[in-house]
Amino acid sequence: MHPLLPSLLPHFPRRDGELTVGGIPVSRLAREFGTPLYAYDAGILRARLDLLRAAVPKADVYYSVKANPNPAVVSVFAKAGAGLEVASAAEYLRARAAGGAPERILFAGPGKGEEELRLVVERGIGEIHVESREEISFLSKLGGSGGRPVPVSVRVNPKADVSGGAMRMGGQPAAFGFDEEILDEVVRDICARPGLSFEGIHIFAGTQILDAKVLLAQWARAIEVARRAEAVAGRPVKTIDLGGGLGVPYFGNEGELDLAAVKAGAAELFRGVDARVILEPGRFLAGPAGIYLARTRTVKESRGKTFVVLDGGMNHHLAASGNLGQVIKRDYPVVNASRVGEAASQSAAVVGPLCTPLDTLARDASLAPTRAGDLVAVLQSGAYGLSASPVGFLSHPMPAEVLVDGGRATLIRPRGTFEKPITELP
Ligand SMILES: Cc1ncc(COP(=O)(O)O)c(C=O)c1O
Repeated sequence: MHPLLPSLLPHFPRRDGELTVGGIPVSRLAREFGTPLYAYDAGILRARLDLLRAAVPKADVYYSVKANPNPAVVSVFAKAGAGLEVASAAEYLRARAAGGAPERILFAGPGKGEEELRLVVERGIGEIHVESREEISFLSKLGGSGGRPVPVSVRVNPKADVSGGAMRMGGQPAAFGFDEEILDEVVRDICARPGLSFEGIHIFAGTQILDAKVLLAQWARAIEVARRAEAVAGRPVKTIDLGGGLGVPYFGNEGELDLAAVKAGAAELFRGVDARVILEPGRFLAGPAGIYLARTRTVKESRGKTFVVLDGGMNHHLAASGNLGQVIKRDYPVVNASRVGEAASQSAAVVGPLCTPLDTLARDASLAPTRAGDLVAVLQSGAYGLSASPVGFLSHPMPAEVLVDGGRATLIRPRGTFEKPITELP
């Protein structure tokens, strides 16, 4: 059995031998909505937000929409009072459609288009995190002509490498933000422009951080950088955005982020910090709340190896297939969701229907003996699942998405069909 399953399965308790999501058995979800599908438990989404707020009471938590942009998921966070971090105008519109208030939305991203910037300024935005000279000059014109200065923060690519995340985003050459070496100049430039209101700084140095010490070191650096910006601006910053990056375990060699250590360290770190501190995680909030559910089409043997072939794979869940930047391919927690109580005595590769060996969701899964028709679930799939996947590859239909809340399952994205492929003739 995958080493993480004992701690993950209690969140999807077994009933009559099968996995449930928010109290609903997977067989019912599959019958009502078809497979493959993503199912998210709204209770877990809210519980993750509560966990983080309890660990870092000083933080104003924003949900990073890119992790799972389904408006129904975004709306769970918006209703719970979280802000929303968006990386495109389309995400901004989703955030608004999900009920996000404009002043609770911030916009970050290395290559924002002028039409995107214009749209969010016209419709209202809490902060824009500037990452280039062009953005500064365009926004200052917009703010200057509209009469209301545009609230901007400076995204900083810090000097010291404090990332430690799987995907490094700081301390080295990067397209994200301004190098710390030119921070003074950038802050002076912003403060000199009447069309802009300087709000603060933003550092996001890495994703999938599971080590509390690394996270706290990154936050400590951000506070140092904010102090420097204050000295240059000649006044306190209003916001310090510490980014997201809080990790969740996926592989057998990973463990949960130690939130008690984060809590103790954060309390120390934020003593004397008056600015509003923003955290903008995506994975931490949404990852554990979702499963990807697919049906077994066949189980076959090839030269001594067993293959469980599902009706969906990397086209819907690139991250689980190990093709989203993983250097070493390890297995996500995968379970035979139709036979949760049975001993995991079968060792098998779990693959999708695509004609490529890349379409492997687990290389060496321990499963309850699996038969055609069984449902298989990939856990920890609520973040960077569908939105980070090559859904056009081989033109299979889009999977359904379902949100379970208060014991009710709601279809939040209908399944695609063969007749209506993703791209159509003009
Ligand atoms: C600016 C920014 N904020 C937040 C996030 C969310 O990161 P995570 O899901 O690791 O918390 C990302 C991810 O790439 C990002 O680029």
